[in-house]
Amino acid sequence: MKAPRANRYRTHWAGQLRAGDVGERVRVAGWVHRRRDHGGLIFIDVRDRTGLLQLVFRPEEAPEAHAAAGKLRAEDVITAEGQLVPREEGTVNPELPTGEVELVVSDLEQLADSETPPFQIDEDEPVGEELRLRYRYLDLRKERMRDNVILRHEVVKAIRDHLSEEGFLEIETPIMTRSTPEGARDFLVPSRLIRGSWYALPQSPQLFKQLLMVSGFERYFQIPRCFRDEDFRADRQPEFTQLDMEMAFVDEEDVIETVDRLLGHVLAVGGVEIELPLERITYDEAMLRYGSDRPDRRLGVEIVDLSDVFRTSEFKVFAGAIESGGVVRALKAGGDWPRSRFDALTGKAQELGAKGLAWAVAENGSWRSPIAKFLSADEIGGATERLGAGEGEAILIVADKPEVAARVLGALRAEVAGDGRSGHDVFWVVDFPMFEWNEDEARWDPLHHPFTAPIGDLDGDPGAWRSRAYDVVFDGWEIGGGSIRINTPEVQQKVFDALGIGPDEARERFGFLLEALTYGAPPHGGIAFGIDRLVALLAAAPSIRDAIPFPKAASGNDPLTGAPAPVDPRQLKELGVKLDL
Ligand code: AMO
Ligand code: AMP
Repeated sequence: MKAPRANRYRTHWAGQLRAGDVGERVRVAGWVHRRRDHGGLIFIDVRDRTGLLQLVFRPEEAPEAHAAAGKLRAEDVITAEGQLVPREEGTVNPELPTGEVELVVSDLEQLADSETPPFQIDEDEPVGEELRLRYRYLDLRKERMRDNVILRHEVVKAIRDHLSEEGFLEIETPIMTRSTPEGARDFLVPSRLIRGSWYALPQSPQLFKQLLMVSGFERYFQIPRCFRDEDFRADRQPEFTQLDMEMAFVDEEDVIETVDRLLGHVLAVGGVEIELPLERITYDEAMLRYGSDRPDRRLGVEIVDLSDVFRTSEFKVFAGAIESGGVVRALKAGGDWPRSRFDALTGKAQELGAKGLAWAVAENGSWRSPIAKFLSADEIGGATERLGAGEGEAILIVADKPEVAARVLGALRAEVAGDGRSGHDVFWVVDFPMFEWNEDEARWDPLHHPFTAPIGDLDGDPGAWRSRAYDVVFDGWEIGGGSIRINTPEVQQKVFDALGIGPDEARERFGFLLEALTYGAPPHGGIAFGIDRLVALLAAAPSIRDAIPFPKAASGNDPLTGAPAPVDPRQLKELGVKLDL
């Protein structure tokens, strides 16, 4: 970082002083990170944005400064001036970039007091999430959090630089707008001037970026805030940031190649080197082998289909499932566990919607298993071989509809695989189905969004349509998703029809898009990435909350400001809003 302008607070950044600066008269400013009293000497680590510097206070050389230093407490704000000297042999700290030098202070001024912080800033001890968020401004003083904020800046800057060079224009789109469905609930904002009407906060800029393609901008990007009222997870926030992109006159290959280059550049900034082009696997393969469309392939275990082994089995649970269109799939799970572990896994499988879970342990060329007595030696031998199960290894089997078997075994795979992850794994998932069946609501839901171009017989069964969509997966998290879009009103209405959105409702909700598609909409497509997820992964953070300076807590509240909060009844009256709680 460029040297600061010398002023009454500082002449140098504390964390940037090195052996080459020895002999200089230096003034630094910052927070008292740690104080140690050693007989007569006092040592203080002062912290500014660039790092730590050791200050030394000697009673005989600067009695006033020494006395004042003795009264300082953690997180007090100071400015200190003195002579930069080399540290004595044996006291050099190789862990610290400034570890070869220290500042012998002759003049100390305290600029602000600090209460005792509710948790320690100088240690990375575990602190409850609620407390961290309530005092987020203190939490952000920690080195790890400061580094995450800096990394985020670097990632966003690398994206802006790279895309600008590739001819993309950064264009803003509205926050107060019409609903942009991405599969979540909308956050709504009541209008005061047009009472009874509501803005929706965008779940993404999807429709506006498509309109920008109709306008002829051809290559657009934006780093927008998106809002989705949905349930919480470690990788989700109600308010999050995307890198949103769109291109005109392109097909899948153009988008994928452009993104490959971009990711190669941006991940390198985060210290992750990837080999290009990124590998692509199909949705079907991902579901079959990993039971997930965003698998962590670093977990060695894979799901194996055993349907042909058990097609004619005497064991009706298996043969019956296959006969009614289902599958028998299994997972080799490594260890020989106690019965209680298998019972727990069975419980978990049932929670996930499986009718049951069969388990076995390979032993003496056969299986120790509650279902072994129903199976032939050929079946046991065939399944063991297909799975590559060695002596003492556990096997988990699910017989069910393909989607259920995939979902259940995918979750068990993540559960039993342990922590054997190393390195990084970034790849594309392509060739998605257009819709998935929503049992609860008895309707089709888009796997991506309704503006994704479908493939297939648009007058036939929507369950058989594929889509021109693609996702990027990074270490088991979906970090990006996009598609080639629909660019005619006719196809758009076909998709709305499949979703049960008739022409009248479509006109009412999306008339502006349907109309725009009649004025020369070029073929176009794009993608959006979750910036918070990307930064969290690059920072090896356990939650995206660690990649967001001021995130919401698990229940959607902000412990720092107290949002969301009730409002003055007068405000509600002005808005024409009555509460019904
Ligand atoms: P999608 O809904 O897949 O696509 O979102 C794109 C990426 O945004 C991130 N993301 C989230 N991150 C944090 N919290 C959330 N609640 C959250 N939801 C999504 C994910 C995801 O991959 N308009 C389309 C993109 C397109 O088609 O171009 C869209 O929004 O990393
Ligand atoms: P049951 O015939 O229901 O007593 O089940 C016999 C064994 O098969 C038990 O160990 C069950 O856990 C297991 N099982 C039942 N249903 C399934 C299923 N759909 N997939 C795999 N195993 C199952």
